[in-house]
Amino acid sequence: MKNVSDADSNTAGTAGLIHSIIAKAYAESPHLLHVLYALQQQCLHISEEAVREVAAHLDLPSSQVDAVVEFYSFFHKIPRGRYDILFSNCTSCGYMAGGVDLMAMLGQQLNIVADNTRGDGLVSMGQTSCIGMCDHGAALLVNGMPIISLDVAMIARIAALVEAETPLKDWPSGWFQVDDNIRVSGLLLKDDLSAGVGLRAMLALGTEDTLSEIIQSGLRGRGGAGFSTGMKWQLCREVQGSAHYVVCNADEGEPGTFKDRVLLHSYADSLFEGMTVCAFAVGAKQGYLYLRGEYRYLLPHLQSVLVRRRELGLLGVDILGQPGFSFDIDIVVGAGAYICGEESALIESLEGKRGIPRVRPPFPVTHGYLGQPTVVNNVETFIAAAHIVLRGSVWFRAVGTEKSAGSKILSISGDCAAPGIYEYPFGVTIRQVLDDCGAKDAQAVQVGGPSGMLIGSAEFDRRLGFDDLSTGGSLMVFSQARDLLVVIVNFAHFFAHESCGFCTPCRVGTTLLKNGLDKIASGHGTRYDLDEMQRLATLVKCRSHCGLGQTAANPILDGLQRFPQVFEQRLVHRDFEPHFDLDAALGEARQISHRDDAAAHIE
Ligand SMILES: Cc1cc2nc3c(=O)[nH]c(=O)nc-3n(C[C@H](O)[C@H](O)[C@H](O)COP(=O)(O)O)c2cc1C
Ligand code: SF4
Repeated sequence: MKNVSDADSNTAGTAGLIHSIIAKAYAESPHLLHVLYALQQQCLHISEEAVREVAAHLDLPSSQVDAVVEFYSFFHKIPRGRYDILFSNCTSCGYMAGGVDLMAMLGQQLNIVADNTRGDGLVSMGQTSCIGMCDHGAALLVNGMPIISLDVAMIARIAALVEAETPLKDWPSGWFQVDDNIRVSGLLLKDDLSAGVGLRAMLALGTEDTLSEIIQSGLRGRGGAGFSTGMKWQLCREVQGSAHYVVCNADEGEPGTFKDRVLLHSYADSLFEGMTVCAFAVGAKQGYLYLRGEYRYLLPHLQSVLVRRRELGLLGVDILGQPGFSFDIDIVVGAGAYICGEESALIESLEGKRGIPRVRPPFPVTHGYLGQPTVVNNVETFIAAAHIVLRGSVWFRAVGTEKSAGSKILSISGDCAAPGIYEYPFGVTIRQVLDDCGAKDAQAVQVGGPSGMLIGSAEFDRRLGFDDLSTGGSLMVFSQARDLLVVIVNFAHFFAHESCGFCTPCRVGTTLLKNGLDKIASGHGTRYDLDEMQRLATLVKCRSHCGLGQTAANPILDGLQRFPQVFEQRLVHRDFEPHFDLDAALGEARQISHRDDAAAHIE
């Protein structure tokens, strides 16, 4: 059905506006996501006409542009309100800090139901997955800008500001200030490298020794999987290609993770230094920083650092006077899709497509961006690499454990006195971390976000590292007062929402798991449901195409193994209770066929 705005967009004026928005955005950056973002911002939706225009302008099939608009949660075909408010529904800020309750409150005050746009077009309101502000209490995005530390008084104020149509620039500026909350600093957080020191050290070493330092340092990827960084760079370098690429994964979508937000904000020079070191080692001329859409507010800052680095001769042609060493970095901003953190989905997204994970092998190191050899590393990995080149592999190896050299930066949230950023040598125990962040009565900790591991107090002496508890950086603390089933249900909803839909085990399985958990949480589950869920969780884990599906059932499996009582105490003592009332569901069919005899009912 055509909406009003599509009808409007048939006017010559609207067509002209669409055309000029596309032309201007394209001149700034030819990337499809950027052009669509500009349209969404200015037209509040992306109409069918706009899709056709974008396709024509970028010389892409309309079907591709349309599919991209459908895929990313920050693009809409139906107009959003002039104030587009999205509350983070992450476990830490949405559930534990009360964000979802505050959303209901704002809905009442603005007279709007969640996931809707008000009739007058002034405001839309809904939920979105974790926005990486978990150390700041309940949080929301308004027109893409984060507002943190929400409370009841702020909600009333926000409602009034929206009703008065106050421009965002006139809202209290303090609301938008996101502190780093660095609590413990180690190897990397002590200081942001001054621009160029790492590159000078790298040039003094030369390509071979730079690579060899990274290999000898034992640095492993900080994004979660822990692949050897030196080996990745070496493999990429050895592949013949028409071009090599360096990509920084700043998609940081794992709920409870926000350390890359802080690194991007306060350590951008170290990051770009690390990307440039990688380019030198693998022979790349172009790099991309893929920034999650939720962190768009950091874009002006990051771009200003890039401009400064170009002025200093640290990016561009013949860097630091080294003939033939040319490299530059562009920033591409995502549009609300957790799956784009998976490296092959990220590359698809960079190429202007939906973020569907590729079939691997081949891996990005041989067939990455535009089919060319590509290194994808996490923000923290690149920063560690910059420090290693400057200070040496021995310096790095001196910290951590045999298999996990160096330090790990953690994002700690939940039930603790001092949520924030903590950097520790690998090998630190969970108990030590809990002591430091003031978590006095923790019953459980989610290590590595929902896709990681849920452990109880009996395991608090386990150590962080690739040899024991591996983590991309998220640590959520749950006190004795928390209902862990609510936490597990929240995670299940997250995965069902974020599944990209490409493969059946994950697309269908995550929704069935979510429904099963909802049934148990609402007091209608039976032993049969629990057994079914265990079976299904194992199937989703083993049969899914990518890491999202392979880890989506972890919270359920961990919960069943370590905290069976949280499920058991909700069970109804019957053999089986169906998810829905089949007879009632047939009511409409009976009405249409004018039958209400016994044979038209299910016994
Ligand atoms: C669903 C999913 C989401 C991911 N999200 C991120 C992310 O936000 N940041 C990240 O660095 N790695 C993420 N990864 C891991 C990447 O695929 C990849 O392993 C990583 O970027 C490699 O960098 P590293 O070796 O420096 O860790 C994700 C993986 C999966 C399966
Ligand atoms: S496992 Fe899930 S996220 Fe990954 S490809 Fe399959 S449907 Fe997509």
